[in-house]
Amino acid sequence: MALYIKVLKVGVIGIGNIGSGIVRRLAGNGNVQVVMYDRNRSNMKAIRSRRVVRADSAAEVADASDIIVLAVKPRQMDQLVAEIGPRASGKALVSVAAGYRSSEIAKRAPNSRVYRMMTNIGCEYGIGPVLLCCEPVEEGVMSMAKRLGRVFLVDEDSIDGLTPVVGSGPAIISYLLDSLSRFSVIKGVEKDLADEIVNITALSTATYLVKKGDGHEGVVAKVATPAGVTIKAIHRLDKEGVVGKIVEALLGI
Ligand SMILES: NC(=O)c1ccc[n+]([C@@H]2O[C@H](COP(=O)([O-])OP(=O)(O)OC[C@H]3O[C@@H](n4cnc5c(N)ncnc54)[C@H](OP(=O)(O)O)[C@@H]3O)[C@@H](O)[C@H]2O)c1
Repeated sequence: MALYIKVLKVGVIGIGNIGSGIVRRLAGNGNVQVVMYDRNRSNMKAIRSRRVVRADSAAEVADASDIIVLAVKPRQMDQLVAEIGPRASGKALVSVAAGYRSSEIAKRAPNSRVYRMMTNIGCEYGIGPVLLCCEPVEEGVMSMAKRLGRVFLVDEDSIDGLTPVVGSGPAIISYLLDSLSRFSVIKGVEKDLADEIVNITALSTATYLVKKGDGHEGVVAKVATPAGVTIKAIHRLDKEGVVGKIVEALLGI
């Protein structure tokens, strides 16, 4: 009996910070055919995989794909969707643009099946959180999303509520981690060593949080023993209103 394996034909338009990660991850996976386009050819040249086809236009990507990932800035979406809309008829359009509503895409591409996906740079290694809407999600789109990380099916308002966490999170977390590293450097540790140890500490903390399921406060309680250094540091951070300041920064207040 012949074994029939369905090949996913995925096109990615916009090969910047996030589009390049999506392409690299998908290209490393079997049974996915990837075609990409960016008007900056140097972005495409940076992807060396021979398994990725470089197109000459967004229209060519639309013609060659069943699933078209739109990875351009939100302000560039109107123009891109208008450009490929007619050619995306009967296909899945998956936008990763922050805050750009699916209704805006559907208005310009009424004959496409429209999805929104929010992930982050971790998708390059298949470990991004991948928020996806709107249900029902077709098999091919789900299969592509699963290759990028752990998929969460959510409604569109939740995508918008979680976008600063998922999209900006790696930058905010790295910013905070740098403060730990700086402390060690002030104490005389080499920067490279301090960075590596901070990164592994972050990895071990995230792994513990996910596996143990005690929540953030549970971890603080476990580490911050009475009269210890940790509880004093947490008290000082609370006094300075650090948590409130971070929340307000994300809210743009
Ligand atoms: N960066 C992240 O970590 C992240 C995370 C989650 C979601 N997102 C979302 O992903 C989207 C892309 O962000 P990014 O940081 O990857 O942006 P980026 O680095 O600027 O990449 C977008 C690329 O698409 C190109 N482009 C724009 N319009 C095009 C068109 N019509 N045809 C072909 N290429 C076109 C841009 O060229 P020009 O430079 O010439 O405009 C640029 O090279 C945004 O909507 C953002 O909200 C980003």
